[in-house]
Amino acid sequence: MTNLRPSKITIAIDGTAGVGKSSVGKAVALKYGISFLSTGQMYRCLGWKVLKSGINMDDESAVIKAAKDIVWGFERQSDSSLKVLVDGQYLGDKLQLEEVGRAASKVSAIGPARAVIMQKQIDLGREGNIVMEGRDIGTAICPDAPVKIYLIANAEARAQRRVKQLQEQGEKADYDEILASIISRDERDSNRSCSPLKPAPDAVIIDTSALSLDEVIEKVMEEVGKVW
Ligand code: DC
Repeated sequence: MTNLRPSKITIAIDGTAGVGKSSVGKAVALKYGISFLSTGQMYRCLGWKVLKSGINMDDESAVIKAAKDIVWGFERQSDSSLKVLVDGQYLGDKLQLEEVGRAASKVSAIGPARAVIMQKQIDLGREGNIVMEGRDIGTAICPDAPVKIYLIANAEARAQRRVKQLQEQGEKADYDEILASIISRDERDSNRSCSPLKPAPDAVIIDTSALSLDEVIEKVMEEVGKVW
């Protein structure tokens, strides 16, 4: 009998900002002993580089050049996640700044800059044994992934989680400001012309609004169990 189960697995997890993709993806990768990449980190790195070099966001050719010039590095951590290095530098917490998130959302909508980053991600996906989390993993980066998950949660639930997360880190958090930022980011990510945020036709949609992290992990693992 032919064994149809793939020897390596690629798991695509997509969804809106703050829906829990990273926490879920990292936990699932750890359970299977495979790598985890939060692909938004790469757009955040580009956003940070553009901000730091004083490049005008509207100067598309300068942003594209900045994207092409980046030398990427990936280091697997003990928690299974791939640490992203930009020109040999790890940016750490700087990448989580709201300002960097906004810049990432803007640069990711510039087609040719996006294409440079996407190619790197396609290559990583092809190597397999990886959970990749982002906005276009199931639709564009790993369209052949045997497991495609699309997480959703209402904006209010996501804003509450973000407030809790910031408070736990001892930072100030304004619920209304965070909610507005989530809504505008969703809109920009969903309405851009290149790789807009949408589920792949064969993605399994999970609404996490009323689920605990463990419940979501369980549901994703159920899907993995069907094919691997
Ligand atoms: O997931 P994140 O918040 O770290 O992503 C930052 C930005 O990068 C997000 O606003 C949209 C963009 N992004 C993208 O366009 N495609 C991806 N695969 C991941 C992120």
